[in-house]
Amino acid sequence: MHIFRCFTQIRRLTKMTSLESAKKTAAHTAVDLHVQNNTIVGIGSGSTVVYAVERLAERVKAEKLKVQCVPTSFQARQLIVQHKLTLTDLEINPRLDVCIDGADEVDNNLTLIKGGGGCLLQEKIVASCARELIIIADYTKNSQKLGDQYKKGIPIEVVPMAYAPIKTQIENLFGGAVELRMAKAKAGPVVTDNGNFILDWKNFQQDYNWENVNTKLNLIPGVVETGLFVKMAKKAYFGLADGSIKEQV
Ligand code: 5RP
Repeated sequence: MHIFRCFTQIRRLTKMTSLESAKKTAAHTAVDLHVQNNTIVGIGSGSTVVYAVERLAERVKAEKLKVQCVPTSFQARQLIVQHKLTLTDLEINPRLDVCIDGADEVDNNLTLIKGGGGCLLQEKIVASCARELIIIADYTKNSQKLGDQYKKGIPIEVVPMAYAPIKTQIENLFGGAVELRMAKAKAGPVVTDNGNFILDWKNFQQDYNWENVNTKLNLIPGVVETGLFVKMAKKAYFGLADGSIKEQV
């Protein structure tokens, strides 16, 4: 029994290590191929982006690059500051060369689910200002259809007072189940960087035209933005378990 538990623990640790190194490989590849001197870069949010910022800081120092960074969240802003990179914003730089960001799931059309970390609104705004949105992810994010891998639902940022009617409207319009995302280390719901709530739409049908669904969701009063990124990403780099990279365009 004890040996069995040790074996399971080792397997879990090995999987964690291979996931982290897959994230790192994807992040390094994107920074190496899409950032040059004078690039204005959007910095996404989440755990994979941490590796991208580390690599960016390394290259800026080693190659004396001039790079300006637009954050997509409080976390991204902190990463930029901590790594002594140049912080800028959309007021000063409304056009970006590239935005490098993670994703919760990527389907075979490069449609994304984002917002697992609750940062989808600023992520979508910054990505929409970039010439190219480059996605970095480990192999578990690579799907045929949305919902194949990611079971936590499609995040939708909403104005707090409207969360209950929006939940009902989405369930009536599209089926599935919509849940208010609750905080883990605080009583009550998750509050986003923009002071809003997040609804997670679970158990949705998988054969939707996601562009239409996204438009319809955005028309519901009180919906601020959805975590569906349709026709936005130019390329995704997936780090694979064997250390190689898969590119999807
Ligand atoms: C945050 C996001 C992230 O990009 C997404 O959750 C992926 O995160 P990770 O790199 O930790 O897997 O959309 O809102």
